[in-house]
Amino acid sequence: MKLWGGRFQKKTDSLMDDFHSSINFDQRLYHYDIIGSIAHARMLCKTGIIAKEETEKIIWGLNELLSEIEKGTIEFSVEAEDIHMNVETLLIEKIGPSGKKLHTARSRNDQVTLDTRMYAKDQIVRTQELLFGLVETLVSIAEKHSDTIMPGYTHLQIAQPVTLGHHVMAYVEMFKRDFERLEDCYKRTNVMPLGSGALAGTTFPLDRKMVAEQLGFLNVSENSMDSVSDRDYVIEMLGALSLIMVHLSRFCEEIVLWASQEWSFVNLDDAYSTGSSIMPQKKNPDVAELIRGKTGRVYGDLLTILTVMKGIPLAYNKDMQEDKEALFDGVDNVQKCLLIFTPMIATLTFNKENMRKAAGKGYSNATDLADYLVRKGMSFRDAHRIVGELVNYCINKSKNLEDLTLEEFNAHLMKENEANIKLIGEDVYAALALDNVVKRRCTYGGTSPEQVKQAIKRAKKYLDGAKKKLEN
Ligand code: ARG
Repeated sequence: MKLWGGRFQKKTDSLMDDFHSSINFDQRLYHYDIIGSIAHARMLCKTGIIAKEETEKIIWGLNELLSEIEKGTIEFSVEAEDIHMNVETLLIEKIGPSGKKLHTARSRNDQVTLDTRMYAKDQIVRTQELLFGLVETLVSIAEKHSDTIMPGYTHLQIAQPVTLGHHVMAYVEMFKRDFERLEDCYKRTNVMPLGSGALAGTTFPLDRKMVAEQLGFLNVSENSMDSVSDRDYVIEMLGALSLIMVHLSRFCEEIVLWASQEWSFVNLDDAYSTGSSIMPQKKNPDVAELIRGKTGRVYGDLLTILTVMKGIPLAYNKDMQEDKEALFDGVDNVQKCLLIFTPMIATLTFNKENMRKAAGKGYSNATDLADYLVRKGMSFRDAHRIVGELVNYCINKSKNLEDLTLEEFNAHLMKENEANIKLIGEDVYAALALDNVVKRRCTYGGTSPEQVKQAIKRAKKYLDGAKKKLEN
């Protein structure tokens, strides 16, 4: 008979067990369910709700079950519905009537969110560890390439040259924010719901703080109705995971482009590429593409839980059972992506020559010519227009700006205004040289090698701080 079978006269339809049971996916919460139950039993004992002897039996039985599940000798039953009732049923089988006292002053409604919160807390930390490893890897790439020149793009058109170190450090900023978002989400996950009962609290004199302390929660929930029906932490976590995927996916898109024959900026390590079943010459960036693809799936997980929650009245509703598969899927996929993205990027080799060559294309130093004219006294707006005309001239002559002779430069300027004739001198060529173009962008947060080195220093300090946080 079902644990809740008392008021029923008929068996559930044969389709029901399969339809409403969650054991096939929530069994992965077994560890949290059992340690949560142990903490609950200890508290019931301390508050005099169950006797010491029986508590000891219960705790012994739960520990036995834990090791049997870990050994793989337990078969869960779909009929027992979910992990909570499976554990309880198995406990009663193992230790007899004392097992029936465990569920005193507790509902599955507060139990399930306790388990899910414990799972989420661990996975937040695990994900942060993976982000930490990724940031460390990116910082070391940036360190090697603080002065490697590549094109910077806007609208995927070459815009201004940047350093590869700077480009990579841009992602460091994104992943730092992801790390912090998870940290923030952890705070709101770190709230202990047990004691909320089904929705209204319980009639027993519980010590909720004691349960929270045993399980490593900072706070207990404030309102029993909110507590059993709150899945904000799942939504927040999937939100944070979705943003990680946004960042990974953007980076992956760049890697796909960079690895193409047209770009040829990078070579992927063989270990992280695949071939074609028909075209013998192919080497494909599957990892990057698959991460880009999985991004949609993680957004889907977020959208699932957002949609599940939007229309349900207080307090618990069975709809909420749909939270777990979305959360598990999001966590699994983000972690898998981080796990493989990090070595893939660490083993990438950069074709510095091609990057540099590309950086010199597209009149990427045009802004610098305008800035040069400004330094000689012209207004930026005039300089912008004149350089635009010079670029047009160069396009017609198939030349770069730095290929123009002083006569060509100045002839153009003179058309504008006789007084301009001496504005462009020999020093213009240094102003237009790639290395100088990059070096000169030395404002805080800019692309110059010097600034990149400073940014790396700051990132290393950040990593030290993050490491300490993870160790606590
Ligand atoms: N398996 C359920 C879930 O995942 C546990 C809570 C069920 N509570 C209930 N009263 N049906 O949400």
